[in-house]
Amino acid sequence: MSAPSLGWGIAGVGKIAETVVECLLKATSQRLVAVGSRSMERAQTFAEQFGAPRAYASYADLVADPEVQVVYVATVNSTHHDIAALALRAGKAVLLEKPFTLDQAEAADLAALAARHGTFLMEAMWTRFLPHIVELRRLVQTGRIGQPLFGRADFGFHQAYDPASRLYSPALGGGALLDVGIYPISWAVNLLGLPSGLSARAQLAPSGVDSQVSAILDYGAGGAQVLVNASVGVTTPQDAWICGTEGMIQVTSPWWRPASLVIHSGDQVETWPQSAVPAQAAGYEYQIAEVARRVSAGELESPVMPVAESVAIMGLLDTIRQDCGIVLSPSS
Ligand SMILES: NC(=O)c1ccc[n+]([C@@H]2O[C@H](COP(=O)([O-])OP(=O)(O)OC[C@H]3O[C@@H](n4cnc5c(N)ncnc54)[C@H](OP(=O)(O)O)[C@@H]3O)[C@@H](O)[C@H]2O)c1
Repeated sequence: MSAPSLGWGIAGVGKIAETVVECLLKATSQRLVAVGSRSMERAQTFAEQFGAPRAYASYADLVADPEVQVVYVATVNSTHHDIAALALRAGKAVLLEKPFTLDQAEAADLAALAARHGTFLMEAMWTRFLPHIVELRRLVQTGRIGQPLFGRADFGFHQAYDPASRLYSPALGGGALLDVGIYPISWAVNLLGLPSGLSARAQLAPSGVDSQVSAILDYGAGGAQVLVNASVGVTTPQDAWICGTEGMIQVTSPWWRPASLVIHSGDQVETWPQSAVPAQAAGYEYQIAEVARRVSAGELESPVMPVAESVAIMGLLDTIRQDCGIVLSPSS
């Protein structure tokens, strides 16, 4: 993808870092200049695998590398705030994995830090940059389905219960809501703005995090209702619908990856794109290009995933957690 080429540093060499770096190298003009891990051995293995010139045994050393212009934070949820803060204080642009932070207080703190240091900050809500979601946003905003009154989106997959895994660990910020529930919630906010109210129910795993959560986002009298569901206990259909007074649009499954739209208006049914979805990389290339363009232009955030919206969404997640009794860490 054409965007000015920047030097990227990767904080944390887990699974998503591999996928995103593979995509960065294959499908963008960005440069991988360094990786940082808590372990020198893991950093070196990753650096060799992907041809990064430098490997560091700490995140602090990574953010101090003068060639690193953007730090991609790809670590477990409980570390997002501190590692992003480290990078922002070092004056680096930050692409921070979802969920932005553990809670709204941490999110607000990062927002203030980025503003104080005049550094770019964006939550890696990559789905917002996928072509079919860009088209969906355009269709909804230009009134193609009339007034949106109902939406539904789910994201569930089966992961056997293991209290030590990041998905089920309260200490690492596990649970369905933070891992995948944030996707349909961010999707709804992207299309319709912030809801005026919400209600939610969760099933808790023995560790105290949610294995499943369902919520209604309520847009007030005469406004929309959006149903969202997330699970780490069961695989769900993973499609999304937005329905309005003049039509409805289905995002085909899985809706959160490159996918197509089925647009229903009366008896007419149309698909987008009209030809097959073109072969492409994993889909992370669009958010990577967005970061490169904004940072190169001296901008401090992306209008597609603004910092204030990430902060507000963390507030919605806080409310859901409080309402459902979801416990994040033994001390919370
Ligand atoms: N955008 C997406 O599609 C997508 C998909 C999956 C996950 N994610 C997000 O990406 C992040 C990482 O997920 P993942 O699946 O890549 O997880 P993972 O494979 O478990 O890797 C996470 C990395 O976090 C680092 N880390 C730092 N402190 C840690 C601690 N106290 N305990 C364990 N690891 C620690 C480790 O890196 P070092 O050992 O190198 O320091 C580890 O490799 C999460 O925030 C998740 O929500 C995003």
